[in-house]
This record gives sequence, C-alpha cells and structure tokens, in this order.
Amino acid sequence: MIVILLGPPGAGKGTQAKRLEEKYRLVQLSTGDMLRAEGKSGSALGRKVQAIMDTGQLVSDDIIIALIADRIDRLAGQGFILDGFPRTVPQAEALDRLLRDKGLKLDHVIEMTVDEAALIDRIAGRFSCAKCGASYHDRHHRPKVDGVCDGCGSHDFVRRADDNPEAVKIRLEAYRRQTAPILPYYRKKGTLRQVDGMADIDSVARQIEEIVNGQ
Ligand code: AP5
Ligand code: MG
Repeated sequence: MIVILLGPPGAGKGTQAKRLEEKYRLVQLSTGDMLRAEGKSGSALGRKVQAIMDTGQLVSDDIIIALIADRIDRLAGQGFILDGFPRTVPQAEALDRLLRDKGLKLDHVIEMTVDEAALIDRIAGRFSCAKCGASYHDRHHRPKVDGVCDGCGSHDFVRRADDNPEAVKIRLEAYRRQTAPILPYYRKKGTLRQVDGMADIDSVARQIEEIVNGQ
C-alpha cells in the first residue's frame, strides 16, 4: 500500500505516519526527517539544505526528487507512507513517473485539514525525542512519564530549529503558495480524501484507518 499524507506544517502528518507504520507495517518516508538527517551529517549537501530549512522555505525539487527516488528504490516493493512529499506540482508529477516506472500504484492521498491558529499552537508546543525521534507536545501529547520517552526511554528531547514564529510564517506561506496547488492535481485523479485534522490524535487516526481500510 502507498499512502500520501498531505497537510500544512503541524497538521499531524508525522504523528499519523508513525501510527500507520505500526498498524500496517508500512515504512514512513518523511522528506523533512531525511533532510534533517542530512543536515546533521555535516555534508556539503546537508549544510546547504539545513540553511534553507531553517528559514522555512522549500528545498529545490531536484534535490528532493533524487532523495525520495533513492529511498523508494531501497524499499524493494514494501509499502510506504509519504509524509511531506510531494510538496509542489513538479514533485507530484515526478512521483507519478517514478511509480509508473516501477509498476507501483498510489492507493490513497489523504489531506489533513487544520485551522491556522491550531497549527501555530501545535508547532510552538512540539518537542521530540533526540534518540528515536518520537514526537510530543507540551499539552496535547506528553510522554507517559514526564521527561522519559515512551518509545525508547531516553531522557533527551529536542525542539526543531524551524519551529520559531518567523520560520513558521514562511512555512505556512510556502504551503499556501507551492503545496496547496497539488490538491486539485489529486482531486482530478479522484484519489484525494480529507480528514478533520482538528480532532484529537486518536480520532484522526481512526478517520485515516477508515480510508485505508476502504470504507
Ligand atoms: P517537514 O519536516 O515535513 O515539516 P512540515 O511540513 O512543516 O510539517 P511538520 O513536521 O512541522 O508537521 P507535521 O504535519 O508532521 O505535524 P506533527 O505530527 O509533528 O519539513 C521541514 C522542512 O523541510 C520544510 O520547511 C522544507 O524546508 C523541507 N522539506 C521537507 N520536505 C520537502 C519537500 N518535499 N520539498 C521541499 N522541501 C521540503 O504534529 C505537530 C505537533 O502537534 C506535535 O507536537 C504533535 O504531538 C501535535 N499533534 C499532532 N496531531 C495532533 C492533534 N490531532 N491534536 C493535537 N495535537 C496534535
Ligand atoms: Mg513532520
């Protein structure tokens, strides 16, 4: 199964991709996580993309398409969830070509809708485990034991460099201008479904499960 989770920054793509990964044995392909890992590696490419991400702008299509093509290649046919990709019409077109060349089919494109004020609140309160990447929120999703990651027991948590008000403004603008135009692209193909991303995390997960279960 191949699923795209679409939605603005803070919509809950990463949170729900992790749920789907566990429940359906799919692999989460988050271009944001890939780019952050590249940034951490300190490579020349990593330094270049980290600087762009920190401002809140999108990284160029050619870098992203090469990155995702390589990761899909390495999955050798296993199902996956695309989290944060595609984000522009050329990326959506490149994905179509990539899947066609491999004889793969896109099953579901799920748009998560969330009010802008809620997005800003979610991003401002987000932190994640420095070791396994599990994502939390100061109020909506705290670890079961304060200061201890539910997933791996680590005590180290981090906040993202681009989760500051200036970068968030640019990320939201990039979503409106560059990413929202891919919604009609998928609507025309008849693959687009919407879920109410304002609901709590479990309810959003249930809405997504109904779609992937074909209901
Ligand atoms: P990326 O890492 O993809 O960031 P983003 O799209 O801005 O989305 P976020 O990761 O901020 O939000 P999310 O939807 O995953 O929400 P989350 O589940 O964490 O991209 C970062 C940057 O990389 C881009 O700006 C760009 O520079 C570059 N990039 C990446 N992909 C690219 C591409 N394809 N092309 C070009 N450039 C690219 O949830 C947020 C918070 O809310 C968490 O604290 C969570 O606990 C909480 N939460 C989640 N769901 C709920 C709920 N239902 N109710 C209450 N709280 C909730
Ligand atoms: Mg994310």
